[in-house]
Amino acid sequence: METTITEIADDVFRLSTFVPDANIMFNQFVVRAEEPLLFHTGLRMLFPPVSEALARIVPLDELRWIAFGHVEADECGAMNQFLAAAPTATVAHGAIACMVQVNDLADRKPRPLADGEVIELGGRRVRNIDTPHIPHGWDAHVLFEEVTGTLFCGDLFTRFGESEPTTTGDVIEAAIASEAFGAPTALTAATAPMIRQLAELDVHAIALMHGPTFVGDCREALRGLADGYAQMFIDASVPALTS
Ligand SMILES: [Fe+2]
Ligand SMILES: [Fe+2]
Repeated sequence: METTITEIADDVFRLSTFVPDANIMFNQFVVRAEEPLLFHTGLRMLFPPVSEALARIVPLDELRWIAFGHVEADECGAMNQFLAAAPTATVAHGAIACMVQVNDLADRKPRPLADGEVIELGGRRVRNIDTPHIPHGWDAHVLFEEVTGTLFCGDLFTRFGESEPTTTGDVIEAAIASEAFGAPTALTAATAPMIRQLAELDVHAIALMHGPTFVGDCREALRGLADGYAQMFIDASVPALTS
């Protein structure tokens, strides 16, 4: 399997590996700055190609931060492999996430982040935004890189298949369609309002974990996803509550 590299914003890179057996892309993102950050480690089995790709952008012994959307194998399976290979790296995740998950799972003590807390990377800055259960997991959060306006949205907008590195095309239809496969998003009454809050950020690129990076009208895309999820929630919950 080959991991391709695309610069999706100034000094923000997308590493992408398509796994044919699963018919899905696994993407990681690298913010090159004085304190470089990796968002998503990938599965343990993807550590060799992903770490080799990362090293072409940032030497492993200079990696400072490791983050991921939530605790799940494809988001952070290789976390401890990266901690071993990058001696100055620290995992940064939400405070509750550290308490219930990462303090125990990570081989080194993580840095817990408060909701809204910023990590100054030196030239780039990432803001932690807690999004519990969106798309899934109590510990879920997104990171927003404020200099380039890049939203590291994790599993939001997940789609199957292989696609181009970036797109301005529709990303909502495929995301809604992917919900048919096992309902991966924990749809609640809070889902759409939280995604609409993300739409109020000045987003220039939405960095999908499973799909292309969206570089079109990001506010419209986020609002469209929120509307689609709201309709799915209504369609599922009203019959259930009234039957
Ligand atoms: Fe996930
Ligand atoms: Fe994922």
